[in-house]
Amino acid sequence: MSLLIKQARLVTDVRDEICDILIQDGKVKSIASSLDLQADEVINAKGMILIPGGVDAHTHMELPMMGTQSCDNFEQGTIAAVAGGTTTIIDFANQAKGESLHTTLDKWLKKSKNKKCETRFHVSITDVNERTIHEMKEIYDRGVRSFKTFLAYKGMRLNDDELRSVMKEAVSIGALVTAHCEMGEQIERNVEQYLKEEKIAPKYHPQTRPPVIEGEATEHFLKIGKEMSCPSYVVHMSCKESVDALRKAKSSGQKCFGETCIQYLFLDDSLYEQEFEQASRYILSPPLRDRSHQAYLWEAISDGTVDVVATDHCPFTTKQRELGRSSFTHIPNGLGGVEERMILMYSEGVRKGRISLKRFVEVCCSNPAKIFGLYPQKGTLEEGSGADFVLIDPMIKWRLSNNQLHHQCDYTCYEGHEIQGKIVKSSSSF
Ligand code: URP
Ligand code: ZN
Ligand code: ZN
Repeated sequence: MSLLIKQARLVTDVRDEICDILIQDGKVKSIASSLDLQADEVINAKGMILIPGGVDAHTHMELPMMGTQSCDNFEQGTIAAVAGGTTTIIDFANQAKGESLHTTLDKWLKKSKNKKCETRFHVSITDVNERTIHEMKEIYDRGVRSFKTFLAYKGMRLNDDELRSVMKEAVSIGALVTAHCEMGEQIERNVEQYLKEEKIAPKYHPQTRPPVIEGEATEHFLKIGKEMSCPSYVVHMSCKESVDALRKAKSSGQKCFGETCIQYLFLDDSLYEQEFEQASRYILSPPLRDRSHQAYLWEAISDGTVDVVATDHCPFTTKQRELGRSSFTHIPNGLGGVEERMILMYSEGVRKGRISLKRFVEVCCSNPAKIFGLYPQKGTLEEGSGADFVLIDPMIKWRLSNNQLHHQCDYTCYEGHEIQGKIVKSSSSF
C-alpha cells in the first residue's frame, strides 16, 4: 500500500516545511517539495499540519488497583490512543512481590496481545533481590529500556539502598531509571491523622500529599541518580517544587529528564470541592494542584526543563470510584487522557501561544521516542522512519465531549473544552 500526502505543513523535531510525503509499506519512502508520483491513495493536505504519531510515555491499561482495574483494556485503550493521534504507548508492567521480571513482562505482553498500536513497556521493580537485579539485563535484551521505581506506596516503594542497586545495574546495561516521586512515609502519616479526624471526603486526598512532599522526593531521587551517575527520569511532575528540583539537577549537568501530564496543565484542585461523584473523578497521585502551578509547568515545558508531556492514562468509571465512598483512601487512583492529550496540547498549547508547534512535537512525539530508545523509527517523519503520522486541520473548532471518544470510561475529565484544530487522520503502522 502506498499513500501520497501532498502539500501539508510537515512539522517534526527537525523540519517545518510545506512538502509532499510518500508512505509505502508502513515506512516513509520520500519527502520532497513536490513528488510527481502515483500512489494507491492521495491526500490533498493543503492547509493541514502533518506531524509524527504521538508517543504517550505513561499509560496504565488494565492496571490492577484497589480490587479493580483501570477500565481501558489494551485493545480499546489503544483504539482510543490512535483516534487521538497517539500511535505508540509505553505502559507499565508492575512486578508483584516474589515475581520474576520475566513473568511480569510476560503477563503484560499477554494482556496487550490485542493492542491496536505500538505498545512498549517500562518494568516497575518492587522487589529488589539478587534475581531481580540479575534479570534486568535479560529484560533489557527483551526490549525494555527503562525500569520504574516508587518512592510512594507501601509495599511497592524501594529504600535508598534498593534504589542504588537498581541504578547500578541500569548504568551497567544502559537502561534508564524512572520514579514516582512522593515521600510515601510522610503521606502515610498524614493519612493516618486525617482518618483519625474522620476527614474522609475526596477533597482531603490532595491535602495529605502536598507539593512539598513531591518536591522533596524528586530532589531525593535525583540526588541518588547523581551519586550513581544513572540517567534518571521523573514521571508525572505536578508542581513547581518538583520542576525546581529537576531544573537544579539539569543545571548541574546531571543526565535527567522530567515528564508532566495533561491533567496538571488543564485541571486544578478546585475540582475536589464538588460532591463525591464529581470530586472522586479527579483522584490521582500526585493530585491536582492549585492553578499557580499550571503556568509554571507551561513555562518549564517551553524552556526545556520538562521534556515530555504524557497522560498517566489510568481511567476508572463513576461506578468504580464508588469503592471510595467510605474514604478517599479507597478511591482507585488515576485519570484518563490518552485520546485527549494530542489535541488538547495543540489547541491549548500551540494555538494559545504557550508553546511553539515544534515544541509540541518534541514533548509529545520525538522526546519520548528518543528518551525511551524508539527514535527515529517513532517520534519523527524522515525517509526510512516508521510512517506513524497525524494530520491536523487547524481551522476546525469543536467542543470535546465524552460521546465522541473511544475509551471505555463513562466520562472525560475534559468535557466541554473548546478545541481549535481537529485530527482528521491518524495512522499507526506498527
Ligand atoms: O494516580 C495515579 N497516578 N495512578 C496511576 C498509577 C501511578 O502512580 O502512576
Ligand atoms: Zn505514579
Ligand atoms: Zn502512572
